[in-house]
Amino acid sequence: MIDISLNDFLKLPEADKLPYIKEYALLYAQQFSRADLDDYCILADKSRSLFKSPDGARLLGNLLSNRIALNFFVQPSSRTFLSFSAAQAILGMKRMSLRDLNISSVSKGESLQDSIRTFISYVDLVVMRHFDNDAAVIAFWVAAKASRRVTIGGTEKPIPIISGGSGNLHHPTQALLDIYTLGKSFENSGGIDGKKIMLVGDLKRGRTVRSLSYLMKNYKNVELIFAAPDEFQMKDDILKFLDSHAIPYTKIDSISEAIGTADAIYMTRIQDEWDNVKTGVHPRTHDNVIFKTEYLKLMKPTACLMHPLPKRDEIEIDVDYANDSRVVYWRQERNGMWMRVAIIAKIFQCDQIILSS
Ligand code: CP
Repeated sequence: MIDISLNDFLKLPEADKLPYIKEYALLYAQQFSRADLDDYCILADKSRSLFKSPDGARLLGNLLSNRIALNFFVQPSSRTFLSFSAAQAILGMKRMSLRDLNISSVSKGESLQDSIRTFISYVDLVVMRHFDNDAAVIAFWVAAKASRRVTIGGTEKPIPIISGGSGNLHHPTQALLDIYTLGKSFENSGGIDGKKIMLVGDLKRGRTVRSLSYLMKNYKNVELIFAAPDEFQMKDDILKFLDSHAIPYTKIDSISEAIGTADAIYMTRIQDEWDNVKTGVHPRTHDNVIFKTEYLKLMKPTACLMHPLPKRDEIEIDVDYANDSRVVYWRQERNGMWMRVAIIAKIFQCDQIILSS
C-alpha cells in the first residue's frame, strides 16, 4: 500500500503525504474536511451523552474490548496522555504505555523504526508524542510497510498511528478538540463561520496554534489575529497556507489591540522546552501578551477564552476563579477526552453503532 522508501516519503511535502495517510493514521490537521469535523463533534457529543447512563457506558465499553492500545509518549504530557488513556478505557480497550526512552531498548541503540515494528507486534493502535518532527510519519511508514494488520470493518489495515504531538509542528488531536470547544462556545452565536480568532503567545513554536490554523480552511469568513512579540510570531509556512486558502490574518503584538473585537482568545505559553539553554527557570511572558483579569470586562459577551494548557503566567490567576462562563479552558480539556473517544471510535469504525444507539 505504500510503494516508496522511507527517505523519499519523508522528503515529500506534507500535502503530498496526505493521500497515503488517508484513514490509516492521524498525523496532520490538514487531513480533515468540514464534514469530518462536524462528524467528529457529533460523535463526541453522542458518546458523552451515552456514557451518562449505565447501559450507554456498557455499550461504549464493549465496543473495543478486543483491542489493545499503546500510548508511546516520550515527551512530557498530562492531558493528552491521560485523556487518550481515559478515552481508551471508555471504549473498553486494554492499554499499555511507554513514556521513557531510557527504559526502552532505544537506550541499547534500537532505531525508532525497529521500536515501532516491535510495538505493532503487540497492539492494535499506537498513540504517540515525540520530540522529533518526523517520528509519527516514520511510525506510519513502518506500520504501512510491516506485514502485521488489524481487521477493521472487515478490511485488513495497518496498525493505526495517532500523533499526540509531533515535535513543534503538529498537534492534530488538540486542534480537533479545540474545534469542538469553539463549536460549543458559539452554539448560540452562529457557529465558527465568520468568527475572529486571536491566537496569543509563542506562535512560532506552538504546535497547537499551528494545527488549529490549518483547520481554519474549513470555515467561511474566519479571520485570524496573531498576537505575539516579533520573536514568537507565526511562521511563514502557516501564513502561506492561510494565503493559499484566502484566510485573512493580522499580526499584532498586544492582546489589548483586539480584546474588544475577538470572538475567541486562544492563549499559549512560551514553549521554552525548545530553547537550547536549560536554566531550570521559565522565562516570564511579555506583559503585552498576558491575559489580565481586567480584560474580562472588555471581551465580547459571546467570546470565549481558551488555552490548550499547561499554562504558567500568561493568564492572571484570578481569571481561573472569576466564575465567568466565557473562560472555557477547563472545559476544553474535558472536551479533549470526548473528542478522543470520537477519534478512536471513528478509526475502528464503531461510530455508526454509537450514533444509532
Ligand atoms: N494540551 C496538551 O497537549 O497538554 P499536555 O502537554 O499536558 O498533553
